[in-house]
Amino acid sequence: MGLLSKTNLLLLPVLCCFCLNLTVAIDTIRSSQSINDSEYIISKGSVFKLGFFSPENSTNRYLGIWYNNISVFTVIWVANREKPLKDSSGVLTISEDGNLVVLNGQAEILWSSNVSNSVTNSSATLGDFGNLVLRVDTTGLVLWESFQHPSDTIVSRMKLSTSSKKDQRLQLTSWKSPSDPSIGSFSSGIDPPTIPEAFVWKEGRPYWRSGPWNGQVFIGMPNWNPGYYTGFTFIDDTNGTVFETFTGLDMLHLSKIVLDWQGNVVHTYWDDGKEDWEVVHKNPEDECDVYGTCGAFGSCDLLSSPICRCLRGFEPKIIKEWNRGNWTSGCVRRTPLQCERMNNSIEEGKADGFLKLEMIKVPDFAELALDVNIEDCRKQCLENCSCVAYGYYTGIGCLSWSGNLIDLRHFTVGGSDIYIRLANLEFEEERNSRVIIPITVTIGVIAIASTAFFFWRWMAKKKRAMKSKSNESLLFDSLNDVKLQDLPIFDLEELAKATNNFDMANKLGQGGFGPVYRGKLHNGQEIAVKRLCRASGQGLEEFLNEVALITKLQHRNLVRLLGCCIEGEEKMLIYEYMPNKSLDAIVFVVICLLNMQCEGCFQRNQMSLALACYY
Ligand SMILES: *[C@@H]1O[C@H](CO)[C@@H](O)[C@H](O)[C@H]1NC(C)=O
Ligand SMILES: *[C@@H]1O[C@H](CO)[C@@H](O)[C@H](O)[C@H]1NC(C)=O
Ligand SMILES: *[C@@H]1O[C@H](CO)[C@@H](O)[C@H](O)[C@H]1NC(C)=O
Ligand SMILES: *[C@@H]1O[C@H](CO)[C@@H](O)[C@H](O)[C@H]1NC(C)=O
Ligand SMILES: *[C@@H]1O[C@H](CO)[C@@H](O)[C@H](O)[C@H]1NC(C)=O
Ligand SMILES: *[C@@H]1O[C@H](CO)[C@@H](O)[C@H](O)[C@H]1NC(C)=O
Ligand SMILES: *[C@@H]1O[C@H](CO)[C@@H](O)[C@H](O)[C@H]1NC(C)=O
Ligand SMILES: *[C@@H]1O[C@H](CO)[C@@H](O)[C@H](O)[C@H]1NC(C)=O
Ligand SMILES: *[C@@H]1O[C@H](CO)[C@@H](O)[C@H](O)[C@H]1NC(C)=O
Repeated sequence: MGLLSKTNLLLLPVLCCFCLNLTVAIDTIRSSQSINDSEYIISKGSVFKLGFFSPENSTNRYLGIWYNNISVFTVIWVANREKPLKDSSGVLTISEDGNLVVLNGQAEILWSSNVSNSVTNSSATLGDFGNLVLRVDTTGLVLWESFQHPSDTIVSRMKLSTSSKKDQRLQLTSWKSPSDPSIGSFSSGIDPPTIPEAFVWKEGRPYWRSGPWNGQVFIGMPNWNPGYYTGFTFIDDTNGTVFETFTGLDMLHLSKIVLDWQGNVVHTYWDDGKEDWEVVHKNPEDECDVYGTCGAFGSCDLLSSPICRCLRGFEPKIIKEWNRGNWTSGCVRRTPLQCERMNNSIEEGKADGFLKLEMIKVPDFAELALDVNIEDCRKQCLENCSCVAYGYYTGIGCLSWSGNLIDLRHFTVGGSDIYIRLANLEFEEERNSRVIIPITVTIGVIAIASTAFFFWRWMAKKKRAMKSKSNESLLFDSLNDVKLQDLPIFDLEELAKATNNFDMANKLGQGGFGPVYRGKLHNGQEIAVKRLCRASGQGLEEFLNEVALITKLQHRNLVRLLGCCIEGEEKMLIYEYMPNKSLDAIVFVVICLLNMQCEGCFQRNQMSLALACYY
């Protein structure tokens, strides 16, 4: 009896699959065809579905595209966002001029693909990446595609773009609310073409920015570590258009980025086990991430209270407002720059200097100087009085700023350096204040400091002991969580032996998070060992995420994760290494994805100038 019902349960989905396949296996609508409110089309591989739907808590009907295979209803594109259907009389069809149109019961056009040159016969096909493409039947020429008209979601293979030509910009626009897909306050895209950055705008004004792209990461997002399965490509078509596209191991994993109605950019992937979308990252992350929180020349630091401070050498523009916690007016320079003073008086003051700030999210409105080395970068800034700050960044080069410094924050991990121009007097004041400390105070301070030092050392020791313990238990909790009990734990000595003590000759690649070595275990098995450097930003949590993801992603086309190793400060991942030539490339791709060694190794066509994995 028990066996029978179990068999039935197993058969049920199989049968259902068949009936689905038999009744609605179409992915295309043609000139003479239409679909009504209760019909739909499904992409060839059953990944996406196009039809009419109502958002939660709404009775309005919209034409949209959503994931067909997953248990959570997730819309990625909406056609008639601004003109909902009030009943179920809606029809999607191809009009006489070849356009895709949504009509209501009175045959009024609520939405149209709006292609101007009319053709006699065309058809629209929904693809497995979620793209609805309208083509001319005879020539196959693409008239229109939904990927060129994004709603609030970008999925794999979709592009966002920026361009000097306004009509070539592709941006996301948020819904008004979870139950109203009409265009909300927020939009998101990349800008400017010279130093691409991700932006969210609220009513057209910046609300969040990622910091410039350095070829591998956005330098204003040191915490973004979405895992190796996601990649971003920037394609520069050399015609003033830069495309950002989002690739990755898309066939293995559903992954999407949504601009939600509250202006958050939320990156999620589908977790088959949990049957839900798992958030990888969300921006803005915190109050300091919101654009310009501290105003001009202000710096935001979550750990200080209040979070906003004027940069050194600057003071609140309107002290009363500032003290009340209204930082919008920002700060102004306290001591005029020497280069500005030179004009008026003959006084030959000492030259201005630069103050180095570390672990910074660099401000907005950077200007890029091409072909300039570090020394010249500083020199150029010093020579031009309107230059208020500069910095030199790997993968970007020399950036300089003039005018107000906006949206600058201080990170606790990661971030970049920036050099701020200050009058020489500002440096002197600091020097003086150091000397003026009376000797008695100095002695007192020394006494207190040495006591504090010993106390601190004692505390640190204790803390370290506690931390390593909690790290270990965290590891095993998480491992249990993703059912990794049987994932072998390698020991450090064994790995050192296998890689000839991590010999340079065995190094396969070097990435942002550490080198990858090739090695051979005593049983002869070849392995690739990813050794995370101690100073890498990848903490235990990210490490565990990666382990969890890779284990879930076991697939015949991917190298297998054999185990991991955590001993003291060392964290390593051990993969199968394939000496076979064709598989070699795959190993490389994975290693590359793990290590930002991406340039050139994952290019699909010659158009890609650079590819970097987000890590
Ligand atoms: C849609 O069309 C199908 C088949 O032509 C029909 O059975 C169904 O009643 C129609 N639904 C609506 C809402 O018109
Ligand atoms: C969707 O479901 C179909 C049929 O069940 C299956 O063949 C296909 O591989 C699934 N696609 C994805 C992306 O899971
Ligand atoms: C729908 O309404 C219910 C009850 O008012 C509410 O709890 C839920 O959050 C709403 N859902 C959305 C998406 O607005
Ligand atoms: C179609 O074009 C017309 C005029 O060019 C414009 O008013 C309308 O908003 C467009 N509709 C869509 C859906 O883009
Ligand atoms: C357009 O399609 C219709 C029906 O599918 C067909 O009868 C007609 O010949 C086609 N016209 C052209 C110009 O191909
Ligand atoms: C750049 O523009 C030229 C002229 O408009 C065009 O021929 C060329 O195909 C464009 N290049 C790319 C990569 O789109
Ligand atoms: C903060 O100050 C600005 C500029 O003076 C003013 O326009 C704004 O209303 C103030 N905001 C609040 C919340 O008081
Ligand atoms: C310096 O003098 C030049 C010409 O005399 C003038 O154009 C410029 O605005 C002055 N700059 C400042 C900062 O006063
Ligand atoms: C100085 O910098 C400003 C702002 O970047 C720029 O517009 C100007 O051309 C520069 N002047 C010189 C002489 O380089």
